[in-house]
Parts: sequence; structure tokens; C-alpha cells
Amino acid sequence: MERTLAIIKPDAIKHADDILYAIEAAGFTIIDKKRIQLTVDQARDFYVEHAGKPFYQPLTAFMSSGPVMVMILSRADAITAWRTLLGPTNSNAARESAPSSIRARFGTDGQRNACHGSDSPKSADREIRFFFPNGFSPAHL
Ligand code: PPS
Repeated sequence: MERTLAIIKPDAIKHADDILYAIEAAGFTIIDKKRIQLTVDQARDFYVEHAGKPFYQPLTAFMSSGPVMVMILSRADAITAWRTLLGPTNSNAARESAPSSIRARFGTDGQRNACHGSDSPKSADREIRFFFPNGFSPAHL
């Protein structure tokens, strides 16, 4: 089993129940989850690999604009499977090429794209530790 970090972004938090249903229907186990509000500094820290790119400021402002749900997902091949379920980064492109994907169903465009997923085992490790520094606590699920 592999783990990945998923985030339901502020634009899609209203669809959290449907997204959680899609996650479980795709065979993921939600190991831990919490609803939080990121500060701008936390968002900048989380997305630090994109610092300097033109979308860094709008991305970090958006991610700190409302509540998000962060989750650890587990499944065989979880990182790739979650990114496949998400579909392409831009929700408009997702509606063309992957209409049943989460970004097609619940996102709007390249910024308001519903959810995040780690892109590699190294990122998943870092991102899980970022949000769950004390390990996970499935007891409250
Ligand atoms: S890159 O440079 O190829 O690594 O970037 P990409 O994978 O396309 O996107 C990385 C994250 O930045 C978000 N993004 C944006 N946010 C706001 N505005 C604009 N214009 C924008 N373009 C890209 C994109 O949704 C990715 O977020 P995550 O959370 O990693 O999916």
C-alpha cells in the first residue's frame, strides 16, 4: 500500500461529501483527514517549490482564502491513482479529456481546480509530514 496527500481546495469544500464518496468508491482508504484554514504563510511554505512562478501568488492567496480538507489516502499505487482520479490540472481541459474526473466534475479552471494530489513519493512524504507532523490519528474518523 502507498500513501498520498490529498487536499480539497476552498472552491470545492462545498462538494466534500461527493468527493469523499468518489475517493472511497475508487478503493482508497482515508487514513486521516482534517478541515483547516491555511494562513498565507502556510500556503507559501506548502507550495515553496513553485516560488517565483507567475501563479505562486494567486495560488497561495487562493489556498488561504477559505477552509480546506487535508487527507492521507492509502491504496496500491495511491499517488498515480489519485492524480488519475483528479484529471488534468486545468478543470476546463479535464472536462474535455476526462469528464468523469474530480477536477472536471467539481473544479472551474486552472486555479479553482477542486483538489491537490502529491506528484511523487518524495512529495507525498513531505506533504503528509507537513500537515500531520505528529503522525496520524485514525481514532477520530
Ligand atoms: S508546474 O509548473 O507544471 O509544476 O505547475 P502545475 O503542475 O501546472 O501547477 C502547480 C500547482 O499550481 C496551480 N496553478 C495555479 N494556481 C493558481 N493560478 C494559476 N494560474 C495556476 N496555474 C497552476 C495548480 O493548480 C497546481 O496546484 P496543485 O495544488 O499542486 O494541484
